[in-house]
Amino acid sequence: MSTKRVIGAEALEDARQRGRNQFEVLPGDIVTAMARETAARIGIQLVDGPIEKPSAPVTDGATALRRGLYRRSPRWVTPQASKSTRPRRLRKLALVGAGGVGANIAHLAANRDMADDITLIDIAPGVAEAMALDLNHASGITGSRARCVGSTDLAMVAGAEVIVVTAGRARGPGMTRADLIDVNARVMRSTAEVIKTQAPDAIVIVVTNPLDEMTVEMLRATGFPRERVLGMAGTLDSSRFRNALAMAAGVTPADVTAFTLGSHGDEMAPIPSHARIKGRALSAFLSEEQIAACVKDAITGGGQVVALKKTGSATVAPAHSSIELIDHIRGAALGSVPVSVMLEGEFGIDGVVLGVPAHLGAKGLVAIDEIRLTQTEQAALNTAAEAIRTRLGL
Ligand code: LAC
Repeated sequence: MSTKRVIGAEALEDARQRGRNQFEVLPGDIVTAMARETAARIGIQLVDGPIEKPSAPVTDGATALRRGLYRRSPRWVTPQASKSTRPRRLRKLALVGAGGVGANIAHLAANRDMADDITLIDIAPGVAEAMALDLNHASGITGSRARCVGSTDLAMVAGAEVIVVTAGRARGPGMTRADLIDVNARVMRSTAEVIKTQAPDAIVIVVTNPLDEMTVEMLRATGFPRERVLGMAGTLDSSRFRNALAMAAGVTPADVTAFTLGSHGDEMAPIPSHARIKGRALSAFLSEEQIAACVKDAITGGGQVVALKKTGSATVAPAHSSIELIDHIRGAALGSVPVSVMLEGEFGIDGVVLGVPAHLGAKGLVAIDEIRLTQTEQAALNTAAEAIRTRLGL
């Protein structure tokens, strides 16, 4: 005789951590509304059971080793980002701007064999060409099949499937991201003019600051649908938030799932209510004060690098964060990822670009994940939307 089970969100999160993508629901089981929402968000399919041949839990060598080394409960495995088994290799990836972020993106993309052709473009003569040559020289060791090309000519974006725009002025000490609006908006407009004629089907990822405002400029100036103009900020801010949480809780970053939404600026909105450490709510590991400090650390993270460096802003983490978006586009990473997109009523916000969780695919934005937020978190999103509207004079 079977006993009735109440299936809550935790059971699904637990299953996800154990590498499952299906959850068996037996006759009589009660699945809570929150559990259904969680299932959709984390990519678990609820399947009517009993399933005839239940699949064995995934225990590859690496997982077994981790279990042994960390002496956790035999059920515990480090949560890992879902990876597709069939990622698509891009034909052409173009990077407009070959400064610190652009160069690091090219390096990561070449090493991960993400594209046949990686084209770097920079206004400063020789910079993109030198980086491309340097990367090609490394291929004798890395074995990368990517061919890197450098140029000063924007028209070299021609035919790119994905274009990452990092061009523009970076922040100096004491400057806010908003201080860059006018100068970088001009860069967005001139870049957009060329993209729209040379690569009319491309997905554009904007990295130039102020991020949300520049994404709006790019969207307007290309006239592309919102699906193909994405802003990179949430992946970076989320990584900083996870790092802060991991340090505060004394765990490894892989033990932490957390994301931030809102603007890539002072109105950034880290979302503690959805954050988990080893699958548990933050309060299981951290005090309110510690959580507030982690939120602050995520918000000020970019500025901390600028203050130390004095001549520019962060490069490595923004490059990884751009690569994460490209991986979602090419199907190498699955699930929801924070990305800045033009909202059309989602989260009750309309007509402004803001960081939200979304699913991406080969054509860019697939769907926005309207997760449930606390009142404070929703208020933070509303404040961010208003601030961006004001800065853009909307
Ligand atoms: C940062 C800059 C790039 O957050 O906005 O590091």
